[in-house]
Amino acid sequence: MAFTKKTVRDADVDGKRVLMRVDFNVPLKDGVVTDDTRVRAALPTIQYLLDHNAKVILMSHLGRPDGTGFQPELSLRPAAEKLSELLGKPVKFVEDTYGEKAKEAVDSLESGQVLVLENVRFDKREKKNDPEIAKILASYGDIFVLDAFGTAHRAQGSVVGPAAYLPAYAGFLLEKEVDTLTSIFADPERPFVAIVGGSKVSSKIGVLDHLIDSADTLIIGGGMAYTFFLAKGYTVGTSLQEPDWVEPAKKMLEKAEAKGCKILLPVDNVVADHFGEDAKGEAVNSDNIPDDRMGMDIGPKTVQLYTDAIK
Ligand code: 3PG
Repeated sequence: MAFTKKTVRDADVDGKRVLMRVDFNVPLKDGVVTDDTRVRAALPTIQYLLDHNAKVILMSHLGRPDGTGFQPELSLRPAAEKLSELLGKPVKFVEDTYGEKAKEAVDSLESGQVLVLENVRFDKREKKNDPEIAKILASYGDIFVLDAFGTAHRAQGSVVGPAAYLPAYAGFLLEKEVDTLTSIFADPERPFVAIVGGSKVSSKIGVLDHLIDSADTLIIGGGMAYTFFLAKGYTVGTSLQEPDWVEPAKKMLEKAEAKGCKILLPVDNVVADHFGEDAKGEAVNSDNIPDDRMGMDIGPKTVQLYTDAIK
């Protein structure tokens, strides 16, 4: 499936300042990245830019800071360190995003070097998509590259803003993900099994609705399963739930049945009385979640059910 947007391959990046939005929203523990999947996912574009003699300026969010300034536990420094390890070369990091220090770090960057800016969300203007933010960020680059597939649905300052001021291109991760999704929806190989998780039905309704039209089996996991349980008449204890979305969830189950799309929901769940490392989990059937328990994950019978469906 041919990608129809311009990618970095179409840009002349030699000696240019390339401002790139990546999604380094990685899990951290004690200041160390515990899962580097997202950093690795950005490597092909970063490596391409380095191989083509660009000055690479990376920006990302990490977590959901309150937007009132620096929060050490949400600094991108550990992600920059991880990137350096994966690239096998030094990566510069500046503890600033929109100020003088960031500008100086950008100005002193040389071709073939990488700079990671501090968390774009430490300033609340990022989430508001304030044009001031976009202007400042755009001033750091000659071209803008979007490779933050995991954040591409957010109309926020660093994601969409610079494209108003700079020539904009897609990175390889964005290209690959869009190609994959496009081909899945246009002409899927069958049987087509889709697995969808996440905490809310409300933010996935469009995707779920679309998938029911084309998937043979739709496997549901994550927090949104509990809203579907409510739609089936179960009680869910203190699990994540969206009471306003029970009716739409019910309609979705009916639509799936009418369309011949098999929806699989968890048949059992690991529950506990609170969320924490010391919580004691136990598996209970989906129609038997105690009032004082919270669903945390799918249970062993569901693991088997889902495994069989995927096989
Ligand atoms: C994600 O992890 O889903 C993306 O990085 C987006 O993060 P957000 O939901 O905080 O915008």
